[in-house]
Amino acid sequence: MAGKILLAGGAGYIGSHTYLALVAAGFEVIIFDNFVNSHPSVTERLAEISGAPVTCVTGDVRDSAALDRLFAEHDIAAVVHFAALKSVADSVKDPLGYLDNNLGGLVTLLAAMDRARCRNLVFSSSATVYGIPDETPTPETAERRAMNPYGRSKIMCEEVLEELATADPGWAFGILRYFNPAGAHPSGLIGEDPKDVPNNLMPFVAKVAIGEIAQIKVFGNDYPTPDGTGVRDYIHVEDLARGHLLSLQSLLSTGQGHVVNLGTGKGQSVLDVINAYSAACGQDLPFVFEARRPGDVPIYCAQTDLAKSVLGFETEKSLADMCESSWHWVTSQAHLKRP
Ligand code: NAD
Ligand code: UFG
Repeated sequence: MAGKILLAGGAGYIGSHTYLALVAAGFEVIIFDNFVNSHPSVTERLAEISGAPVTCVTGDVRDSAALDRLFAEHDIAAVVHFAALKSVADSVKDPLGYLDNNLGGLVTLLAAMDRARCRNLVFSSSATVYGIPDETPTPETAERRAMNPYGRSKIMCEEVLEELATADPGWAFGILRYFNPAGAHPSGLIGEDPKDVPNNLMPFVAKVAIGEIAQIKVFGNDYPTPDGTGVRDYIHVEDLARGHLLSLQSLLSTGQGHVVNLGTGKGQSVLDVINAYSAACGQDLPFVFEARRPGDVPIYCAQTDLAKSVLGFETEKSLADMCESSWHWVTSQAHLKRP
């Protein structure tokens, strides 16, 4: 296959699963990561699963010289750019830090790609760019109106990519708007591993299931949804990883960019998630209703037609698969941590 694929932020949750999807498809892949939110041991686990050594370079996407060395040493055909900070709460406390890392990182990476004449990039965007959408399921044409600095950083990044593609049609960008990634690899060797108390529902539920947290707090039971709790479009991280493979293949074969949602098109409530996780771990998980979380949206759900027509992408895995693989991952982790 001509040229390698660079995964910036490839040691993280979505990047590590995408690494395996790309290697399985025959791509030669390099991970570049500063490990601000991941651990170098991920590469050993990826080697164990894939049965082949992993090429990983430690570095920051804001470091032009490090990127120039990387592009000089390797023939890189395309980049998948996962490297970003992703906590909404932290972004409110440190908007400048988020701009520096997420927007600054993208601009520095694009400049290095330009110098190396590498013009294909898949970008990790988010459903958060829709703010409170007027329409659900939400189409890609919906207005962008983020509600926090993290979301605004994603909108700014999308705008930079659009302006660049307009200025020079030699660039091809795959902008992927993820809905709510969940689940883990079936090996139990890689998954989401938040360093602090998780903000997101699925990893929080996992901590309750494993006994590290006493009960789940359900933020709001008075939303205009079937059971009153917030509804999201949870997508298995392995389906999401395959979406990156299809996006890359499309960029490399057509030279044309795309902006697509990656979701299932199916909404699931907080209570649906708790019930599915309870079934996966074999115990009824305790929960308590609390007030709505400020800034939360009642429903997020993807319109999926475009991903299907442009990339041939359809999800294959269910909420039960997400909960079962998450449970396998957290129990495997607990076993590994035991003295
Ligand atoms: P993650 O934190 O697990 O992975 C991000 C990786 O990027 C980490 O390994 C981190 O160490 C690395 N990184 C961060 N800044 C870097 C820098 N300046 N230089 C080099 N490496 C750096 O997060 P994830 O869940 O895998 O998310 C990947 C991408 O998807 C992010 O851009 C995120 O904003 C986006 N996204 C995530 C979700 C989600 O719920 N997980 C939803 C929508 C979009
Ligand atoms: N929730 C709870 N209790 C919790 C955590 C969450 O009830 O402890 C509820 C929320 O109120 C919401 C749902 O579970 O109704 C999902 O919440 P998450 O925090 O898991 O996910 P969000 O959709 O709020 O946000 C996530 C990321 C955003 C991203 C968005 C869309 O945190 O950065 O998905 O991709 F933009």
